[in-house]
Amino acid sequence: MSTAQTPLLFTPLKLRELTLKNRLCLSPMCTYGAQDGMAGDWHLVHLGQYALGGWGIVFVEATAVEERGRITYGDVGLWKDAQIAPLKRVTQFLRQHGAAPAIQLAHAGRKSSTARPWHGMGILKDADAKARGENPWKTVSSTPDLMDDTWHEPHALSTDELKGIVESWRAAARRAREADFDIVEVHCAHGYLMHQFLSPLINKRNDAYGGDIAGRMRLPLEVAEAVRGEWPKDKPVFVRISSIDGMDGGWTIEDSVTFSKELKARGIDVIDCSSGGVVGSATARAVPRFFGFQVPFAETVRKGAGMKTMAVGLIVDPEHAENILQTGQADIIAVAREALVDPYWAHHAARALSPELMTYADWNKEYQFWLDKREPVMRKLRAEGNARA
Ligand SMILES: Cc1cc2nc3c(=O)[nH]c(=O)nc-3n(C[C@H](O)[C@H](O)[C@H](O)COP(=O)(O)O)c2cc1C
Repeated sequence: MSTAQTPLLFTPLKLRELTLKNRLCLSPMCTYGAQDGMAGDWHLVHLGQYALGGWGIVFVEATAVEERGRITYGDVGLWKDAQIAPLKRVTQFLRQHGAAPAIQLAHAGRKSSTARPWHGMGILKDADAKARGENPWKTVSSTPDLMDDTWHEPHALSTDELKGIVESWRAAARRAREADFDIVEVHCAHGYLMHQFLSPLINKRNDAYGGDIAGRMRLPLEVAEAVRGEWPKDKPVFVRISSIDGMDGGWTIEDSVTFSKELKARGIDVIDCSSGGVVGSATARAVPRFFGFQVPFAETVRKGAGMKTMAVGLIVDPEHAENILQTGQADIIAVAREALVDPYWAHHAARALSPELMTYADWNKEYQFWLDKREPVMRKLRAEGNARA
């Protein structure tokens, strides 16, 4: 699929030596189906369907770099070597079916030790321990403040302990490399540990890792450097940011541009522009919702830092996605919930954007032959206005 009229969305994109077949990305989505941080059949089938569905990038959900950095007991992890092999099964399947396998590394900090959505979310309590043997654990953060009085009180990491945090990210990146991912993303958004250092609403430290923006960026930049250092030079590294906190006195879009420039200087390739989450749920509604509500952030970072950006958030319509790229607001489109509704959204978008160009050539060979054969029959019947029997 590469002619002059090919939609930009379906034009390959080169990031370092990695060529994406299109610019559509399955956004990272926690599904909380792991056992002891191990990916299983669920992850293979769930993520595999997006490779079959035509997505250029398929992200494994937020994957904990430390056991205590898990959001729930069901999170995928890369805190030990035994977790590499089950993920390698996933990367092999995704690549074999044309998607670039990607993984988001994460540490939830003070937002760790919670129940899965279907167990009521919120912090783990005695009832969870009784029902499923899931005991709460001590969480960590930049400061000892609770998110609100319904949350665990975190331990404020000492300056020395921060070295261990950086090392856990480095080791997880090494494991992700050994699991054969093409893209690694550092999760600095949604109120998780890196964001707990970035945001002035949370970080009240008075050592070198707090204070002004240089201090608050220090740990995330050290982590980004460590991950970049472990990652093959020919493969890209993404960073997801909360572009704004959306609250008085919080992180601003200007801060995001400053941070992105620093990340660029450290070899980060793409900024994935999300927002919010500094208090409350991961993407709590501090930021008003409308279709493409975070696209202006991707555009500002793209122009301000001179970097490639990924736009995400209520992008559900192929024409809208194409327009975002055509107008230079972002370089990649990530989709989350609409992809749950329709895992074949990418394939359907290709046909919707230019039906005259599209065959089933991009579909997996097991389906393609039959669908190509059916196509002229479908066209003829539709042209004839053929009534259904
Ligand atoms: C079930 C679910 C799980 C999510 N898990 C993650 C995650 O692991 N990491 C992350 O950065 N964002 C996560 N998100 C946020 C999405 O990646 C995405 O940014 C957000 O849903 C907005 O995009 P959408 O409107 O296309 O759904 C999650 C969202 C959903 C719905």
